Amino acid sequence: TEDGAAPVLHQTDRESLRLLRRVGAVDPESLDDYRASGGYAALRNALQLGPNGVIREVTDAGLMGRGGAAFPTGRKWQGAASQPALPHYLVCNADESEPGTFKDRVLLEGDPFALVESMTIAGFATGATLGYLYLRGEYPRARRLVQNAIDVARERGFLGTDIMGHAGFSFDIEIRRGAGAYICGEETAIFNSIEGFRGEPRSKPPFPTEQGLFGKPTVVNNVETLVNVPLILTEGYAAYRRIGTEKSAGPKLFCLSGNVRKPGVYEVPFGTTLRELLELAGGVPEGRELRAVLLGGAAGGFVRPDELDLPLTMEDARAAGTTLGSGVVLALDDQADLGKFLLRIASFFRDESCGQCVPCRIGTVRQEEAVSRIVGGRRLSTDADDLALLREVGQVMRDSSICGLGQTAWNAIESAVERLGALDGVES
Ligand code: NAI
Ligand code: SF4
Repeated sequence: TEDGAAPVLHQTDRESLRLLRRVGAVDPESLDDYRASGGYAALRNALQLGPNGVIREVTDAGLMGRGGAAFPTGRKWQGAASQPALPHYLVCNADESEPGTFKDRVLLEGDPFALVESMTIAGFATGATLGYLYLRGEYPRARRLVQNAIDVARERGFLGTDIMGHAGFSFDIEIRRGAGAYICGEETAIFNSIEGFRGEPRSKPPFPTEQGLFGKPTVVNNVETLVNVPLILTEGYAAYRRIGTEKSAGPKLFCLSGNVRKPGVYEVPFGTTLRELLELAGGVPEGRELRAVLLGGAAGGFVRPDELDLPLTMEDARAAGTTLGSGVVLALDDQADLGKFLLRIASFFRDESCGQCVPCRIGTVRQEEAVSRIVGGRRLSTDADDLALLREVGQVMRDSSICGLGQTAWNAIESAVERLGALDGVES
């Protein structure tokens, strides 16, 4: 069945929107609406610039991946484009499943033609003739709307052969749906899933740009990353760089959830402070006090109420011991049960570990057991034992797991212990 209420888009100043400017303002099923609001001007510019010119614009714009890891997009595109092996593939990672992350869903449902255009530009720049959209299975409305956009674009000459009359440029898009496994959002697990194998990550290197889907050079980009590209190609890299900060350029979507009055997706320039963003979302409910904010999702870290002037940039988040990750901003007020919240995170990682490598398969179980004992008041002989065990297990997972899931499974819990004094034996 088509899913229920879509995430809410709140914004006090609609004029300032770039990534979300069409969401809720145009009919997501109408290519004519899309074109009337500037759609396909970017692809036209791209065809004039040529593949190298497009990669140069994206590189000079300083675009970084918005899925969580912030890798430079231009470098990734150049890496794949320069590979002699053919064919090249493009994969759009729309398996949005980081807890507290729902920004891509808003784009997929509210502006699906923008994603189709963006993927077409990425295919043109990197020499891919086929793009896969790997879509979270729990997003049926997004599937219907994006499939419609693909079909309509193909009928009207924006997908297929000789796109927009450009002789020799062919590109098409197929949707593949995930089936509920968090790990299938890991880029190499996506390859296995598309190829018909178990969704287990592969070791990197080799990176996908060299050997990706079906062993061929592949670019994997997040939905939000791709949807930045038309902005760059219509406004120009210099104008784009003026948004945000020197090292973190452009607009950014954040997912506000937890104890805030107006949860939803917000678009702000990088460099907006956490305080300003929380204010946009109405702050914590009346009569409550903010206890902490989880930034970056289950793989991220906590920010304390005395640190709300943190500018939301990749580099400032890193310096503060956390990450912006996929844009999660989850507020916990003084009535939230931090212990139970951490136990939920530990259970999540135990559930979602694919079990392929020992440190993560066993470590996530030990981690959940230790947090559960502490939260339930059933510690080992002394308080220090379970905390010491957590630290040791966490470090082993970080150092020796194959993929990001195991490497980051201890991040949020470590941050709560070190920065909030959680699990210290006094409170849960
Ligand atoms: P990563 O750091 O391994 O890689 C980031 C990207 O850069 C990948 O596409 C990788 O192939 C590429 N890359 C790195 N070095 C390269 C090189 N030398 N040459 C070419 N390409 C290179 O991070 P990963 O594991 O892909 O992503 C981790 C992030 O994903 C976390 O920060 C987490 O926040 C986020 N995440 C997001 C989710 C979501 O729902 N949006 C779900 C789960 C995690
Ligand atoms: Fe699987 Fe965890 Fe190993 Fe990743 S770290 S491959 S999720 S067992």
